[in-house]
Amino acid sequence: MNERFETEVAGTRLVLVRGDITTQDVDAVVNAANPQLTPGGGVSGAIHRAGGPELTRAAAAVRRERGPLPPGEAVITPAGNLRARWVVHTVGPVWRGGRHGEAELLARAYRSCLSLATAHELRSIAFPSISTGVYGYPVGEAAPVALGAVRGFLREHPGALDEVRFVLFSADHFAAYRRAWEDLPNPAHGRRFTDHGAPGVQSAPNGTGQAHQAPGDRSGGLP
Ligand code: APR
Repeated sequence: MNERFETEVAGTRLVLVRGDITTQDVDAVVNAANPQLTPGGGVSGAIHRAGGPELTRAAAAVRRERGPLPPGEAVITPAGNLRARWVVHTVGPVWRGGRHGEAELLARAYRSCLSLATAHELRSIAFPSISTGVYGYPVGEAAPVALGAVRGFLREHPGALDEVRFVLFSADHFAAYRRAWEDLPNPAHGRRFTDHGAPGVQSAPNGTGQAHQAPGDRSGGLP
């Protein structure tokens, strides 16, 4: 399976890729943090290990100044030794069955990161799949929320960023996000786009609002 997909939403490249977020060449990577902004495990542990003591100290300083970071909010620090220059730390919701405002909090976490990035005039940002590890959010439920939140923000802020990248650690996660993108409801048209193009022509450029994608368009499973 091709584990990279690229499309465009209102002038911003939206990329899904399988990989490791700690090696991404973007202005900022997002950390799925805990409220104390300590390294923890999972993606946060990996980001802190790669960023080194400068990153961990910067996160601790923010924690001292502002107190614990509530779920849905985001803060920014320098990235230490990472290739990215900044880390945007956000706290996703802990999954408690889906009826405790988890989706709203998860969407808010993505939007907070994007707002912070644009406020700092960053042009590219990479997200992990927030909350779908230790916090237990099922990826099949989280992916449409994440993609819907990002698409909504980009449509409201055309051209505000060059690229938003989702860096998915496992094949399962990549497949879930890829599927969720195809199935994402399109409120502008009141129906779902599904693959109905001619053979070899992928459709459903969910960000552009066009029902078909001509061969050679940038959207859709580029190598
Ligand atoms: N690159 C990209 N994604 C990664 C990486 C990596 N290097 N390492 C792990 N992941 C993925 C996991 O596979 C999971 O899909 O990140 C996703 C989020 O998982 P967690 O890191 O467990 O984050 P979350 O579910 O939001 O839980 C946050 O975990 O580490 C603690 O301190 C953190 O308490 C906080 C909690």
